[in-house]
Amino acid sequence: MERGTIILLFTFFFSIVSHSSAKAHNISAIFAFGDSTMDPGNNNYIGTWFRGDHSPYGHDFPGQVATGRFSNGKLMTDFLVSSLGIKDLLPAYLDPGITDHELLTGVSFASAGSGFDDSTTVLLGGVSTMAKQVKYFEECLHRIEKLLGKESTNRVVKDALYVISAGTNDLLGNFYDLPVKRLTTNITMSAYQDFLLDRLHSLIQRLYSLGARKIAVAGLPPIGCLPMQMTENILLPGSHMRVCVQQQNEDAVVYNLKLQSLLPSIQASRPGTTIAYLDAYDALLNMIIIPEEYGLVESWRGCCGSGVLLELGPKCNESTPICSDPSKFVFWDSIHPSQAAYQQLAKIVLSSLLPRLNS
Ligand SMILES: *[C@@H]1O[C@H](CO)[C@@H](O)[C@H](O)[C@H]1NC(C)=O
Ligand SMILES: *[C@@H]1O[C@H](CO)[C@@H](O)[C@H](O)[C@H]1NC(C)=O
Ligand SMILES: *[C@@H]1O[C@H](CO)[C@@H](O)[C@H](O)[C@H]1NC(C)=O
Repeated sequence: MERGTIILLFTFFFSIVSHSSAKAHNISAIFAFGDSTMDPGNNNYIGTWFRGDHSPYGHDFPGQVATGRFSNGKLMTDFLVSSLGIKDLLPAYLDPGITDHELLTGVSFASAGSGFDDSTTVLLGGVSTMAKQVKYFEECLHRIEKLLGKESTNRVVKDALYVISAGTNDLLGNFYDLPVKRLTTNITMSAYQDFLLDRLHSLIQRLYSLGARKIAVAGLPPIGCLPMQMTENILLPGSHMRVCVQQQNEDAVVYNLKLQSLLPSIQASRPGTTIAYLDAYDALLNMIIIPEEYGLVESWRGCCGSGVLLELGPKCNESTPICSDPSKFVFWDSIHPSQAAYQQLAKIVLSSLLPRLNS
């Protein structure tokens, strides 16, 4: 993308932000489903090794607590709830400290390492599948109903925003890095994308049948530009440079195009529903290409360790040195965005989302 286009886009987003006031919406809660991009620590309470509940995770979180968020601080969903004036943080549903009252303004069911493909969750040590996350949501609704009764529960469900973000682990786990499914079934990328979108479609239908009416679905990020993938590029035949893996970015773009044509068709078949696409691709790619436009400096490596190897989860730990100023980094570890990047993403997402939800 050309620099001029990017600046234009940026100006466009900015002008929308300035026209939308914080309370111009009826969103009273956010319920999140998906992977590490939305998991505030659910994995701490399930039997998986895939966790961010140790230092240096949480390095810049209030109180410097390693909550289980795969970042140095807050996630995009935390910034969403605070920008919408709902609450400061979007907590993990599985945290036993979560009160019934807290559920009314939303929680996250997301589980780091999860994906739309159940076999992805097995690879990553039994994290919560999408079906399991929906089960927890149903359990959550029972708790709310006990507190408020049926009618008020219906209102909570209807006025909530449902945010879904997953798919990256499916491609990393079953296609690129550990190509389990590709090697065992010979499935093509296109067919695998269709399979994932079919699973997403079922998830949306399930949420709709439970009463969800405002749904936002994130597309894939530029997977080939995640620091770990860029390093792997060196190992690919004919490639000796640490640059974005073009094929993986192209696959993400194709997936996102398919997703952007699927969502309006689901919405059209479900009157009274708004289903919005959240563009994680351009937003993150712009940050990677011109970090200085976002007040950032480093976008080619993560802050934890060398930032170019497998430094995430247990490999980003107490004995791993970190960069001196995480607030200047787009990535915190070799896969996950930093708090600074999530804050920018939340701004961009809100500016495109709010006008849609109010129309
Ligand atoms: C919020 O909901 C009320 C009642 O349902 C409606 O009158 C109002 O227009 C809504 N506001 C927005 C910003 O959607
Ligand atoms: C995948 O394709 C290769 C090459 O065409 C073939 O040798 C192999 O048997 C196939 N594997 C499966 C599981 O279909
Ligand atoms: C801690 O992280 C370093 C990499 O920074 C890694 O070499 C080491 O194995 C990790 N320790 C454990 C216990 O996994």
